[in-house]
Amino acid sequence: MAAAAESEEEFQTHAGPLNLADDSSYRRWRDIKLLRYPARVEDIAVEIRDPRRVSTRERDAIAASCDRANMAVYAFGHIDDDEASVRASLLSFGATFGLRAIEDHRSAEADGVVRIEAVQGGERYGYIPYTDRAIAWHTDGYYNFHGAGRSVQAMLLHCAQGAEHGGENRLLDPEIAYIRLRDEDPAHIVALMHSSAMSIPENAEANGTIRPVNVGPVFFVQPGGTLGMRYTARKRNIVWRNDEPTRRAVAALERILGTDPLVLRTRMSPGQGLICNNVLHDRSAFRSAATGGRLLYRIRYHGRIGRSED
Ligand SMILES: [Fe+2]
Repeated sequence: MAAAAESEEEFQTHAGPLNLADDSSYRRWRDIKLLRYPARVEDIAVEIRDPRRVSTRERDAIAASCDRANMAVYAFGHIDDDEASVRASLLSFGATFGLRAIEDHRSAEADGVVRIEAVQGGERYGYIPYTDRAIAWHTDGYYNFHGAGRSVQAMLLHCAQGAEHGGENRLLDPEIAYIRLRDEDPAHIVALMHSSAMSIPENAEANGTIRPVNVGPVFFVQPGGTLGMRYTARKRNIVWRNDEPTRRAVAALERILGTDPLVLRTRMSPGQGLICNNVLHDRSAFRSAATGGRLLYRIRYHGRIGRSED
């Protein structure tokens, strides 16, 4: 139990609802969260007339959705027809919410935007996002964790071209996953906040570069006291801490993701997207239309969604 106690001690340095010792603060936060959480994806849908000139009302609607669920699903009223304009619009849209610190990602182009599409070769080949296959539940950047202050905290996923069949996303706010686990057994939280709960083995790229092993917690407290989450449900290339509390917590989380009534579902059409504080999400397998492959653009950020005055 020495390791669990050590992890608990680390955890208890954070005041507020995420502190396991502060049950009354947790109860208040939890009750408000569950009361305000959207029942349907339509409840967090926001129309954006022009992503480069977001109105105060539109900005407030996105911020309010993120307050409730750490995410909003937007639909742009104006769709750029060339790729350079789409990318510029997305970067401008993110900056409206204070999102400017873009993660340095192996597949990002110079502007930090990644094309998510099925590829037959090149640097992205061999990684599941760049196929037409299903992607298991995860938060973005779980394999690139370098401390609570340097994780992927926000993410934008924009649909430029939909699939003919499939390509649906399920979505869940990590705060709901945390609440379900803590309500079931606070020991799940202790296990998943352990600093070596989840390890991603090193990865050798085809070009010879090596991404070293990445070790860290599942749940962590970010600067400012908000909850961060680092997770993947995939079974390969992941090593869980080898003890019973971790196994129980991971099994409980898998069950919650498979059954929770607060899991939202969406299937994005061109011009629609997700802007979020790195929520849990998955993707079903898809088949592209003969007229064009499914294409999403993705941007990952350090820093959370705020109002532009921030
Ligand atoms: Fe993702």
